[in-house]
Amino acid sequence: MSHSKQGESIKGETFDEVIARASVSRRMVLRGGLGASLTAVFGSSVLAACSDDSTLVHTPPGSDAGPDVQVDAGAGDAGPNYSIQFKPIARNVLDQVTVPEGYTAEVMFSAGDAVVAGAVAYTGTFLTSAETEKIAGGGHDGMKLFELPGVDPNKGGLLAVNHEAADFKILMSGTYDASTATPEQKKIALSAVGVSVIEIERKNDGKWAVKAGSPYNKRYTGNTVYKVRGPAASVVGETVIGTLNNCSSGMTPWGTYLTCEETRNNYLDPTQPDNGYGWVVEIDPRGELADLPVKRTALGRFDHENSAYLLGGDNSLAFYLGDDSTPGCIYKFVPSGKFDPQNRAANANLLDSGTLYVAKFNADGTGQWLELVQGKNGLVAGATDPGDETQGPKPDTTVNFNTQADVLINTQAAARVAGATLMDRPEWITVAPDKSVYCTLSNNSGRAVTDKANPRTKNMHGHIAKWRETGDAPTALTFTWEVFLLAGDPSLASESLTGNINGDTFSSPDGIHVDPQGRLWVETDMSLPGNSGVEGKNMTDVFGNNGLYNVDPTTKKSQRFLVGPTGCEITGITHTPDLRTFFVNIQHPTGTWPSSVQGNSLPPRSSTIVIRRTDGQPVGA
Ligand code: FEO
Ligand code: CA
Ligand code: CA
Repeated sequence: MSHSKQGESIKGETFDEVIARASVSRRMVLRGGLGASLTAVFGSSVLAACSDDSTLVHTPPGSDAGPDVQVDAGAGDAGPNYSIQFKPIARNVLDQVTVPEGYTAEVMFSAGDAVVAGAVAYTGTFLTSAETEKIAGGGHDGMKLFELPGVDPNKGGLLAVNHEAADFKILMSGTYDASTATPEQKKIALSAVGVSVIEIERKNDGKWAVKAGSPYNKRYTGNTVYKVRGPAASVVGETVIGTLNNCSSGMTPWGTYLTCEETRNNYLDPTQPDNGYGWVVEIDPRGELADLPVKRTALGRFDHENSAYLLGGDNSLAFYLGDDSTPGCIYKFVPSGKFDPQNRAANANLLDSGTLYVAKFNADGTGQWLELVQGKNGLVAGATDPGDETQGPKPDTTVNFNTQADVLINTQAAARVAGATLMDRPEWITVAPDKSVYCTLSNNSGRAVTDKANPRTKNMHGHIAKWRETGDAPTALTFTWEVFLLAGDPSLASESLTGNINGDTFSSPDGIHVDPQGRLWVETDMSLPGNSGVEGKNMTDVFGNNGLYNVDPTTKKSQRFLVGPTGCEITGITHTPDLRTFFVNIQHPTGTWPSSVQGNSLPPRSSTIVIRRTDGQPVGA
């Protein structure tokens, strides 16, 4: 049961009404401690889903939006106002993080910082591979905040941070070349990708920091051994060394982290077989579940961007997955089993069996999920792959799908054979509290042939698609969809470049997140200084540096909330349940930030920043 969805009916009452009747706050429900009265109101199965015991992590009720928690409403207090009221900022090209008046943005976690207990942080001297294996990798990207039993989730928790790429300037002199690198250089490079899990806390001075020496602090790197599970394990092997190109990420309702590999080879160590990469890797930040970390082959092998889930009222699940290829498809994986909210360990193998589907967007605004199952939808021996025809004519090739492992290892070809729609580089997907699903389509300047879901040739600035499952069911085989927004800027005065943004314009949407209050946030990743499509104007001339925007889901009004420093992309948005602290990643800055604010002279480093309001109220309001 989707127990804590605001306004959702439970036996004829909304959740709010039930809570009002029980005379408790929603926060108290989610934090436990009122068992008897709640058992009376909800029945035991619902209470289990709401409990605060160690078997459950408080993940969102029906989507990846975040915990649905109202916070700190005192007696007679109507509670915080979450409606968007921040004063939007102008575009700029400054080498700093710019946030609205009344906000602070502080650096919390940079490439090279200590992670594992006893680690020696990078302070300007290159370290050995044994040392770099214990410090923060580079290229901070997707991240999620997880609750810890017994810890106020608004003041502490576990942050899992993806490291998409190494920040080589802090690792070695010169450039890294996999074909000539020494074994030690390879180990160092591979140590700088993967994932950091850090325990973080808000200290008494109000500042968030990594809790040094926490037993939860851990690195998963390109040198770590990962188990392999699911239908392709028989071909890939029992284990694979390394995860890399850990782009964005997701989480499960049972509180595990899904780090997504946006590569189908090990370009840092090409001696490793290609089929070991391009998977979704499940990690337990709390380190409780046996068998993890593990590569889940049932979710397909492609250039994975992130994952986002939709949880049904019957505990059925869908995990949405984007393939950031030029072009790539949108997938969903529906596990055969259902989420068990009462027994965390019972969910441990849910991602190993189920059905992988790929989306077909029909011209009339309907869509279908096509099964990627050997023997169906043309997935047989001798299948004809038409190639990426959207970029211009391509020769057909013959592909053999003899087993489900063949389908999963060569998912992109399987999708084309099945007749999926090739999208303009799917980046992040997010599921809103109202169960709408959004996907950023970053750009595809090489598109030659359009369709309704990808309506522009030479799509330099990208767009955002939105869909809704039939009956809001994770298991639905059909959906309805629309193009939510076309990015661009009217100053570019060319039909394919202007877009239809209402308000502050942007290009190349990448990160997207709808928070539990239904507020839509978009992060951009224009390649800088880039080409705007107009002679003499680069991306920064038109849009400024990459930024974070709030877009109203109804009016589609866009307001610029944050502008990043020189050269960076903005990514990795997550927040505390009370929405008073946002964490955002600044990836690959190229100027003097963050050393300029950290008071050191180190090279520019990818970093996690903490955004709060000086008056402590919810961010964005
Ligand atoms: Fe790693 Fe598609 O961004
Ligand atoms: Ca991305
Ligand atoms: Ca990107």
